[in-house]
Amino acid sequence: MTQNLPTYPPMPAVLEGSPLVEAYVAKTRGSGRLAERARGVFPSGITHDARYIEPYGIYVTHAKGSHKWDVDGNEYVDYPGGHGALLFGHGHPEIGQAVQEQISKGVHFGAAHELELAWAEAIQRLVPCAERVRFTNSGTEATHLALRLARAATGRSKILRLTGHFHGWHDTVASGFLGQFDGSPARGITEGVARSVVLAPPGDLDAAARLCDDDIAAIILEPTGSVWGQVPLSVEYVRGLRQLASERGALLIFDEVVSGFRCAPGGAQQAFGVTPDMATLGKIVSGGMPGAAVVGREDVLAALDFRRAAAAGKEKVFHMGTFNATPVTCAAGIAALRLVQTTEACKEAITYGNGLIDGLNVMFRKEGVSWIAYGTFGGFHVFLNPEGITTDRQRIEAAEHDFATMKAAVPPAVSLKLRVGLLLAGVDIQGWPGAPVSAAHTDADREQTIEAFRQTLRALREEGELA
Ligand SMILES: Cc1ncc(COP(=O)(O)O)c(C=O)c1O
Repeated sequence: MTQNLPTYPPMPAVLEGSPLVEAYVAKTRGSGRLAERARGVFPSGITHDARYIEPYGIYVTHAKGSHKWDVDGNEYVDYPGGHGALLFGHGHPEIGQAVQEQISKGVHFGAAHELELAWAEAIQRLVPCAERVRFTNSGTEATHLALRLARAATGRSKILRLTGHFHGWHDTVASGFLGQFDGSPARGITEGVARSVVLAPPGDLDAAARLCDDDIAAIILEPTGSVWGQVPLSVEYVRGLRQLASERGALLIFDEVVSGFRCAPGGAQQAFGVTPDMATLGKIVSGGMPGAAVVGREDVLAALDFRRAAAAGKEKVFHMGTFNATPVTCAAGIAALRLVQTTEACKEAITYGNGLIDGLNVMFRKEGVSWIAYGTFGGFHVFLNPEGITTDRQRIEAAEHDFATMKAAVPPAVSLKLRVGLLLAGVDIQGWPGAPVSAAHTDADREQTIEAFRQTLRALREEGELA
C-alpha cells in the first residue's frame, strides 16, 4: 500500500543552503529521524497546525518548570507552555500530586462526582460572569457550544466575529481567521455556514454598529485582541461592544481560552471591568489536562437545563461529551485554580513578560532592527515590521495600528529561519512570532531568550534576510 503514496516534498527553497538551518539539522538529528518517520503517518508529520515548523520541529522527551529537553539531549527555554495551558510551568508538584492521586481512584465514573462541582465552584469564585458553568473538552468545543447557546437564547441565527480572531477550528469560526476576510467559506466549510458569520474589522466600533443587525445572536471576540493580543484592542472598544450588544439584544461572548486566569485571576473581564454574557475558558482552567468550559448568565445557560427548557415549552439545547469533566481533569483544574487564587502567578508571569519585552526592545534598538516586542497579558509578541513603519511598543499596545498593518506579510525566509534560529539557540517560542510566558520563567531564561534573538537576527543578517 504505502509505496504508492506521495513522497514528502523537499524543504522550502528559502531554507536550502542556509548555514543556520544546516546547524539546526546537525544539532537535532534524532528529531529529524522521528520527523521523517512521522511524515509517513501524519499529514506534514504533525498533530496540530501550530506545531508546523520547517524543516521540522523538535521531538521532546520531558519538561520541568520553564524548560524542556529533546531526544538529542538539547535543553530549551520553553514558551509554548502547553500552548498556553501551563501558567505555573511544567510539572507543578501540587497539580502533579492531584492528578496522580485521582488516577489511582478512577479516571471515569460515567456519573456525577464531587470534583466537577468543586472545579466549577472554583471557576465561579474567580470569573465574574460565571453564574453557570458547562464543561467541554477543548476550547473549540467551548466556543462551538457558546455560539449554539447564543442562537438558542436569542432566537437569532448570525454571529458577529472580528476579523482574524481565533476561536478554535469548528465550522462557524474556521473562515476569517487566516484568510477569507471577504466572508467566503474556508476550504471544507459550506457557503451556508460562512453566510451565518459577519466579520467586522477589529477596533472599529462604527463598523460593528453597522453590522450588528437584529439577526445577530452574539458578538464573540478575543478580548485582548486577535491571536492572544497580537493585534491589541483598546478597552474603550471592548466597552463599546458591550454597550452595542446590550442595545441590540445580542449576547457578548468573551473567548477567554487564553486570557482566562492569565490577564488577571478573573481573566480579561476582570482586568477590563467589562462583564460579558458568556465566556469560554480553556487551557489554564484545566491545569494542563484536556478540558474547557462555557460560563455565563444563568438565563442563557438555562437553555441546557432539562426542567427549565421544558417549563419554557422549548427544546433543550443538545450537548454531550464522553470526557466532559472527567475526574483527573477536574483534580488538575481544582489544583490549578487554587494556585491562581492563592499565589501571585498571574502577576509574576505578567512581570516576567514585561521585563522580557523591555529587554528585547533594548537589544533590537542596539542591533538596529525595526522589530518591536510588545504584549500586556502574560505573553509577548514580536512585530517584525516588514513595511518598516515608525512605531513603538506603547503605540502598538494602545491599538493604534489596524489588523492589516500588524499582520502584514513577513518574508517566509525570515519567519521560518527565526524559529529555527531560536531553537538552535535553545529557545522555543510559537510561530506568529510570540508566546505566552509562565510564572516559572526566570531571569536566566529572560537573558537566554534575549541572547537567542540577538544571535538569530545576526545570523539572518549574515544570510542576507535582514537589512
Ligand atoms: C482564543 C482561543 N479560543 C479557542 C481556542 C481553541 O482551544 P482548543 O485548542 O482547546 O480547542 C484557542 C486555542 O489556542 C484560543 O487561543
